[in-house]
Amino acid sequence: MSLPGTLFPLTARANEQNHLELGGCDVVQLAEQFGTPLYVFDHTTIREQATRAIHAFRSRWNNVVVLYATKAYFAPFLARLFQELGVGLDVTSEGEIVIATHAGFAPEKIYLHGNNKTPEEIRAALRAGIQHVVVDSQGEISHLQSLISTLHSPITNLQCLIRLSPNIDAHTHRYMTTGVADSKFGLGIANGIAENAAREILRQKNLKLVGLHFHIGSQVFDTDALRQALNAVLDVAADWRAKFHFDFQELNIGGGWGVAYNEMQTTLDVDAFAENTTRVLREGLRARGLNENLKLLVEPGRGLIARAAVALYRVGSVKEIPQLRTYLAVDGGMGDNVRPALYGAQYTAFLANCIGDEPTREYAIAGRYCEQGDVLIERAQLPETRAGDLLAIPVAGAYQLPMASNYNLIPRPAVVLVQDGSAQLVRRRETIQDMLACDLN
Ligand SMILES: Cc1ncc(COP(=O)(O)O)c(C=O)c1O
Repeated sequence: MSLPGTLFPLTARANEQNHLELGGCDVVQLAEQFGTPLYVFDHTTIREQATRAIHAFRSRWNNVVVLYATKAYFAPFLARLFQELGVGLDVTSEGEIVIATHAGFAPEKIYLHGNNKTPEEIRAALRAGIQHVVVDSQGEISHLQSLISTLHSPITNLQCLIRLSPNIDAHTHRYMTTGVADSKFGLGIANGIAENAAREILRQKNLKLVGLHFHIGSQVFDTDALRQALNAVLDVAADWRAKFHFDFQELNIGGGWGVAYNEMQTTLDVDAFAENTTRVLREGLRARGLNENLKLLVEPGRGLIARAAVALYRVGSVKEIPQLRTYLAVDGGMGDNVRPALYGAQYTAFLANCIGDEPTREYAIAGRYCEQGDVLIERAQLPETRAGDLLAIPVAGAYQLPMASNYNLIPRPAVVLVQDGSAQLVRRRETIQDMLACDLN
């Protein structure tokens, strides 16, 4: 059986032992050395995907910055890698700011997001020298101004982008649709809320309105929805220029690049997407007489990282329910990957210790957590599988570890980074002492 090309990291192959190999490392050995569940990130895939995205946009737009949306997964090893590659960051918390600054990110390459930024987060961003904020509520504008005023040497111009809600349906899962009118994200165009926010920013002494932002959702394949959103946002820029001389310098078109999680799905072609987007943008700016030299920002999360990791699980028990189904219970589940339980995300599993064998039967892959909904895959096609076997679930790099929990007081997994035949433990497995560290009595 050959490995599906779009699901596994670029270095994945079946080795002579019929084991899955990633970054030159046999995952059966990795599981023995580091235990399971184990998340294996492939250095080459991260580097390749980031480089490809940068090239796709830089070759088509002069002034462009690819920001990595750190919510997809952030850790010091990733921060260092993205910093080296010249990627910027979209951050949403003080924790993410701390990791970014420790990795040596230039503050001008960090954009602060969030629909409810706390005063502590704003202070941390200002302390770190972050110069760009994506405004996502009217209330935060006066907050930003008053927090800047308390600084010893207030920055003169905090660059603000307004996150617009263009009222376009991205046709993705309801929980991943963020550009419609009824969304907790963004400021409405038609209802005038965004315009009020723009006018309020213009009244503030230390804030400068430099641009617009939109992100219509995640797992977006509908390029027509993106085109509509882009045009709606350019209409706003033209309208505000006419009304109050809005100086349109930056446009952030969000992330949301669709990624395949199983063989039935496709992955967005970044080159075609960049070509399409920059063409629509250029035409749209020209048609409205807007600034064609503006800074273009894109902020993919999953598109850069999802495919770079594989989650490894040990099968603990096999439960056959006659005429119904056979459950394979693994040693992870919703504690390290809540996506199937949260919004029905679909995955495919592979038998890592017999990776070349053809599937012969169907199993449900159950997690070990005390919820009936903790089923990672309802229908997985696998070779005959027994307790002790090692399962690999690819496309595990995004929105799994950062949403992990200690449900049932189970420690979170370890993470290794593989490259050229060596494996580096980049996050040790959590211990029971780690979990109890915050309990005072
Ligand atoms: C504002 C913003 N930008 C970018 C992203 C990244 O989305 P994705 O990981 O689907 O590319 C998100 C995800 O929620 C987001 O809210």
